[in-house]
This record gives sequence, C-alpha cells and structure tokens, in this order.
Amino acid sequence: MSSGNSMSTRHGRRSFGLCGGLIVILCLNEIALGAMVSAVAYYTEKPSWLPSCRIYEPGFTKCSTNSIQKLLDQMNFGIPEIVESFGSFDPMHVRDIIFKQDNNEVATIRANLTDLVVKGFAQTKVKESRVSKKDFNWQTKIYLPKMRLDGKYRMAGRILLIPLSGSGNIFIEIHDLEILLLTTTELYEKGGFTFDNVTSVRVQLKLSRVHTNLDNLFNGRSPEVERSTNQFFNDNWRDFYEALKPLIVGTVENILYDVMSKVFHLIPANFFVEDIPTPQEFYASKQVAASDNESKSSEK
Ligand SMILES: *[C@@H]1O[C@H](CO)[C@@H](O)[C@H](O)[C@H]1NC(C)=O
Ligand SMILES: *[C@@H]1O[C@H](CO)[C@@H](O)[C@H](O)[C@H]1NC(C)=O
Repeated sequence: MSSGNSMSTRHGRRSFGLCGGLIVILCLNEIALGAMVSAVAYYTEKPSWLPSCRIYEPGFTKCSTNSIQKLLDQMNFGIPEIVESFGSFDPMHVRDIIFKQDNNEVATIRANLTDLVVKGFAQTKVKESRVSKKDFNWQTKIYLPKMRLDGKYRMAGRILLIPLSGSGNIFIEIHDLEILLLTTTELYEKGGFTFDNVTSVRVQLKLSRVHTNLDNLFNGRSPEVERSTNQFFNDNWRDFYEALKPLIVGTVENILYDVMSKVFHLIPANFFVEDIPTPQEFYASKQVAASDNESKSSEK
C-alpha cells in the first residue's frame, strides 16, 4: 500500500496525525507534554512593550485587543525565549503533517507534508480579544491578508474524484483569512504569579480565496494533466478547500496552540490582566458556587 515512507521521518521535528473528523485530540496530548517539560523559565518583570489591562473595569476588550496586537508585533520582532524554542514567527517552520482522510465523498487521501514553512503571520491584525470573566477562556478574532504554506508533499488517493499519486512541492495560499480563535485555559500559579495554561484551541476560518499548486502530480508522467488538474483545483477552489478543510483547520489550530502555549507559560497572565484572580481565589469561588447549587441552598 505504501510507496516509500522515509520522507516524514527524515525531517527533524515531531510529526502529528490528523485523523479525519477527530483531528487534534491525540496531537494535543503530545504537545501538552512537550510544553510542560519545557515550561521552566518565565518572566518575572512585565516587558515594557506590553500594555496591561483590567478585566473588572470598563473598556477591557478594547484594551486587550491592543495588548494582544502588541504581543503579536513583538513576536514578529522576536521574543528571544520563543524564538529559541519555536523559531521565527514569520516565516514559521511547522511540524510535519501526516494526513489521512477516508470515506469522505470529496476526498479520500493519505498525504504527508514535510519541510513546511508558513508565511504571513507578520501581517496579523487583531480585530478583537475577549476574555471571559466566567472561565478565563478567550475568544479572539484575527485577520491575515495572506497566509501561504510551502512544503513538500507525498500523497495517494483522490480529491474531488481525481485520482492522485505523486510527490513534489506544494503551496497553498489563502487570501483574506479571518480566524475566530476559541481558546480554553486553566489558571495556575507559578512563583506567585497567575499563568494561563492553554488547554485547547479551536478555530473557525473565513477566507476569500485559496490558490494552490502541486507539482509533479502523477509522478511527472503527464505535465499536461498536471497543469489542468491544478487549474481545476484553482477554478473550483471552494470545493478544493472543503475537501482539504480538516487538514487546513487542523494545521492552523496546531500552529496557534503551539505558539500560544509557549507564550503563556512564559509570560504571566498578570502582565496582560492586572486584576486577574489567583487560581486559588478563582477556583475556590467556583467551588463555593457549585456546592451552593448542589445543595440547592443558593438564592441565585
Ligand atoms: C506517510 O508517512 C507514513 C509514516 O512515515 C507512511 O507509513 C505512509 O506510507 C506515508 N504516506 C504516503 C502517502 O507516502
Ligand atoms: C496544563 O494542562 C494540561 C492538560 O490539561 C495538564 O496536563 C498540565 O499539567 C497543565 N499544566 C500546568 C502547568 O498546569
């Protein structure tokens, strides 16, 4: 069934599996472990580039939107501790992807993507950053004028009924990408500071166009068919995007999870939200509320 399997292991970083509808659960565990091990050093002084906000005062969302924009600007400029463990923000090197999608009408493929580089995060605009007072989960809207993924692919299967088997260079370019980011966090204490433990990231994407090219499709046997197939994917980019949506969404979720968990194990939540409660205060008050409900003694 397989045709050469050395590609995905050749390239250094961890690889993860995207498994049709199930996507990132397995992968998150693996990353969480990595984040835990490397979570040693952290900031004990607020960096001067970071404006902090107060969640229990009016205007928090506006303030937080600006503060997350400043964070991204600084990531782009280069936060040494992040660059060291993660590499640069733009261009960004991304882990290998092993993608398998079965029993789907639009695509049944196995694909391995390696040597992946994503460009475009430097242009990120933060449109809104909301933090819930109830659970300290986040809802963030960001916009990228263009995101481009370059890499090498090896795939077998079919997309939009077209049988594909080949390996070569691939790029996927997404225009006007609006990302709604739903992040769950847990508060924890480290050195007297409150930190956010990013526990999951889900994204919803809106975009205006996808442009793609896969070279050496059909193993170079027919340049003419290769050209017309790429043309077909671009003419029918909406269907192509739908077919590869689990791959694209999963990739974006993994990138953002990686970045955010690194950042928020490094920088205390107090530096973003000055009046954030300590985990003890916060979870104790929630427990009181929960046990009130249980004993039905709460007057609401
Ligand atoms: C992708 O990589 C895996 C693991 O290295 C391998 O088993 C599989 O055959 C590869 N798939 C393709 C389409 O090359
Ligand atoms: C962060 O959350 C993960 C998953 O729930 C957990 O395994 C890990 O111990 C947490 N890390 C910290 C520092 O609280």
